Amino acid sequence: MTVNDGLHPERCILVTGGAGYIGSHTSLQLLLDGYKVVIMDNLINSCEEAVRRVVDLAGKQGENLLFYKVDLCNKAAVEAVFDLHQFDAVIHFAGLKAVGESCAKPLPYYINNILGTLNLLDVMNTRNCKKFVFSSSATVYGQPESVPVTEESRLYVLNPYGRTKLQVEEMMRDITAADPDWRTIVLRYFNPVGAHPSGRLGEDPQGIPNNLMPFVQQVAVGRRKELTVFGNDYDTKDGTGVRDYIHVQDLATGHSAALHKLFTTPDIGCTAYNLGTGKGTSVLEIVAAFEKAAGLKIPLRIADRRPGDCSVVFTATDKAGKELGWKAQNGIDEMCRDQWKWASNNPNGYRPVQEQPIDLKAVANGNHEAVMSKDIVV
Ligand code: UD1
Repeated sequence: MTVNDGLHPERCILVTGGAGYIGSHTSLQLLLDGYKVVIMDNLINSCEEAVRRVVDLAGKQGENLLFYKVDLCNKAAVEAVFDLHQFDAVIHFAGLKAVGESCAKPLPYYINNILGTLNLLDVMNTRNCKKFVFSSSATVYGQPESVPVTEESRLYVLNPYGRTKLQVEEMMRDITAADPDWRTIVLRYFNPVGAHPSGRLGEDPQGIPNNLMPFVQQVAVGRRKELTVFGNDYDTKDGTGVRDYIHVQDLATGHSAALHKLFTTPDIGCTAYNLGTGKGTSVLEIVAAFEKAAGLKIPLRIADRRPGDCSVVFTATDKAGKELGWKAQNGIDEMCRDQWKWASNNPNGYRPVQEQPIDLKAVANGNHEAVMSKDIVV
């Protein structure tokens, strides 16, 4: 790894889950901002190709990226990476994230998202690395009582995935309260969509996508026949659900702003920020914007509401604006433009052919060795 003469010559950031959707965009942003980056990822739901593309897109700064194929549930492997590097801060993305799957198979969610995080925090604590940014979600607000959602809105989770996010947040609050050397930031994302404007990084879900935008994308490239719209009888402008979609590039800059905040605010404690645009967009508006960006028609089928869905969710943006100096720059048109560029250039995501889905049973049974077989240095 070469010495970086950019903005942050000394600072080395560990990014867990850095091969994933938000992690890869954030890793690229950090490199371009002048940080050194070490990615740890077990690749069970992501692809090494994403890391290669981050290196490419970072140009000269790409030399400041290292990648280790490591599962956080393997504490010895995590310690081994900490033996090799002195990290100034950690951004923690690694985890499983499908709501429906977490209800069907809660154990792998608790193992990966809780045990993995505990291992990481314990190793950080032992090595005196006490700056931590956690990838949380608007899911911790459950069905919000009112909108816009603020950081003070009631926390109420409805499924095991959400519980793992909230439990990690609570662990962070306890750890920070007990030891003022810890500085921690919780970032609660609203609905991340879009892709890197180059069209080379994007979301690559395996199996049937759970979320709206990846599903729209797969219909657009002919991988699925039609989009099922879950309910058109909500009390909204056109009857379909309204969400706060945020461009993944804006999330990436949000993480960079959070890191800066950690480095410059000794008494930050554990502070949460909502990352969204503050604007609500309906399912039909998303479809229309995507059709315009792609120049094609998305066939629709109207179905019943999806259990557990709420009608309208969007965030207040004041706290992130004021305290992080951060604001989302991209609107729905940019989100759809970049999503389509990614989709049309990579109709099968990072993989030329679809691979086998993750063997969650093996992971639940503790077979993490399967994904620990090699350490790769890019
Ligand atoms: C979902 C998760 C949430 C998670 C977030 C991550 C649920 C219940 N919630 O939120 O915990 O943090 O993703 O981004 O899964 N829709 C369709 N057809 C589809 C898919 C979605 O009409 O095939 C609609 C939904 O009803 C909703 C909107 O599109 O109105 C957005 O759905 P989705 O992308 O799944 O996000 P959330 O439900 O907001």
